[in-house]
Amino acid sequence: MTTQALVVGASGAIGRAWLAEIHERFPQSAITGTWWRNEPAETGFPVNWIRMNPSDAESVAGCADQFGQLDLLINAVGFLHTEEQGPEKSIRQFEADFFLRNLQINALPTLLLAKAFQGALRKAEQGWFATVSAKVGSIEDNRLGGWYSYRASKAALNMALKTLALEWKRSLPRVCVAALHPGTVESPLSEPFRSGTPDHKVFKPEYSVARMADVLFSKTAADTGRLWSWDGQPIPW
Ligand SMILES: NC(=O)c1ccc[n+]([C@@H]2O[C@H](COP(=O)([O-])OP(=O)(O)OC[C@H]3O[C@@H](n4cnc5c(N)ncnc54)[C@H](OP(=O)(O)O)[C@@H]3O)[C@@H](O)[C@H]2O)c1
Repeated sequence: MTTQALVVGASGAIGRAWLAEIHERFPQSAITGTWWRNEPAETGFPVNWIRMNPSDAESVAGCADQFGQLDLLINAVGFLHTEEQGPEKSIRQFEADFFLRNLQINALPTLLLAKAFQGALRKAEQGWFATVSAKVGSIEDNRLGGWYSYRASKAALNMALKTLALEWKRSLPRVCVAALHPGTVESPLSEPFRSGTPDHKVFKPEYSVARMADVLFSKTAADTGRLWSWDGQPIPW
């Protein structure tokens, strides 16, 4: 049977690496990737590309209409900074617009995707619905403070995934819902904020995704509703 896989935000560094990882692990799979602002680079293997705005309900529903069955959905969309504005060091820097933009890109898409794709995921024999989250969204793990908007949007995302896992335990019992922490990864999103991280702790996207895939594909629906680090460790919500 062909595995039907969808990577949302496949134009990004981590999303693009997920396409390649899925192609390598499931060579028979039919892979779809979405992008919104930045047209994706050539992959070297077949990808069905769809332009979709992950924060727009109609756009997401239109994409879902193209799927009868879906076995694997990875959401790798995310936002941390613009050219002008970065994550807050203190509450003095907090701006409502920036906060709402974080929520709109980091939390909202997963909820829209879950609603639109649950019909197709229900048909999977063994399904995975995973979003690339971040450890800084863990409330219990927050020891440094700062980054109000990004942290709060990832915490909202984590709560959405946990709540979805509880609902789908009953209605989609063959689907594993997961939040994944990729570590610090070379990408445009992390670029301005990596100077404090030692080189050996900054991963290539391919390495991070291979580790996340090891973790995700070792899980079944019995493991649903957790936040996993790239190294397989569970992170407290
Ligand atoms: N890199 C890290 O160190 C790190 C660490 C922890 C967590 N993460 C998480 O990993 C995920 C992937 O990040 P990345 O490092 O791969 O970043 P990236 O290379 O900058 O990719 C970001 C992705 O998000 C999409 N996106 C951004 N803004 C959007 C908007 N306004 N509307 C629609 N789509 C938008 C982009 O699509 P278009 O360009 O096509 O619009 C792109 O596919 C994010 O959720 C991030 O929070 C990354």
